[in-house]
Amino acid sequence: MVNKRTPIIAGNWKMNKTPKEARELAQALVPLVAGVKDREVVLAPPFTALSAVAEAINKTNIALAAQNLHWEDKGAFTGEISAEMLLDSGCRYVIIGHSERRQYFGETDETVNKRTRKALSKGLRAIICVGETLAEREASKVNEIIGRQLAGGLAGVTAADMQSVVIAYEPVWAIGTGKTATPEQANDVHHFIREQIKALYGPETAGALRIQYGGSVTPENVSTLMAMSDIDGALVGGASLKPESFAALVKFT
Ligand code: PGA
Repeated sequence: MVNKRTPIIAGNWKMNKTPKEARELAQALVPLVAGVKDREVVLAPPFTALSAVAEAINKTNIALAAQNLHWEDKGAFTGEISAEMLLDSGCRYVIIGHSERRQYFGETDETVNKRTRKALSKGLRAIICVGETLAEREASKVNEIIGRQLAGGLAGVTAADMQSVVIAYEPVWAIGTGKTATPEQANDVHHFIREQIKALYGPETAGALRIQYGGSVTPENVSTLMAMSDIDGALVGGASLKPESFAALVKFT
């Protein structure tokens, strides 16, 4: 069967760019990707730059994402940001459970699940990140880890809500290291993820699910990754911080 899933290329700017710098980057990007119609383009600046980027990409083919959200609606949660705040800032997507949050900020499958359910209940689309460490890969635990992250992160998420979910497979050992998984290594895990979703939700949901690869994706390696049967997009860190390189990624052939 021909893969009819719309590719989704997202730039995760992490803790980079002031509002002014973010606006300039977004403004530079807009004309470079303006003609792109057959794939989705998403930018995830830091919270403080969301509004500036929202203005710069208003009425364009670029969608806005946040890098995290809290699961409560409001209240005494110093330092946290609610779904409502993200929607009001123009976000359509939110990244949840990035490995840097799991590694440095105590994110667990349970908190990923709470954030995911809140995002979906408010109409935000969720990009849920999963991925194994090098030690876990070397111990042949990739499927075990990914299976656990998926089942935990998606607990209570309905098949209908899965239409608003994108899974990003990001092997921790490939993030920011210049070590990309080979297209075959990545596709094996993507295939496993799709099988898990099939077991949880059935073939239709699994067939429609978009699974992004992330970890040292560049304009040079994006095409071979995107040529794989189960890779439907890329979540890009470093190479998304320059307009030319991100535009080149978006325009992979
Ligand atoms: P990288 O980051 O492209 O810089 O490896 C990817 C990510 O963490 O989303």
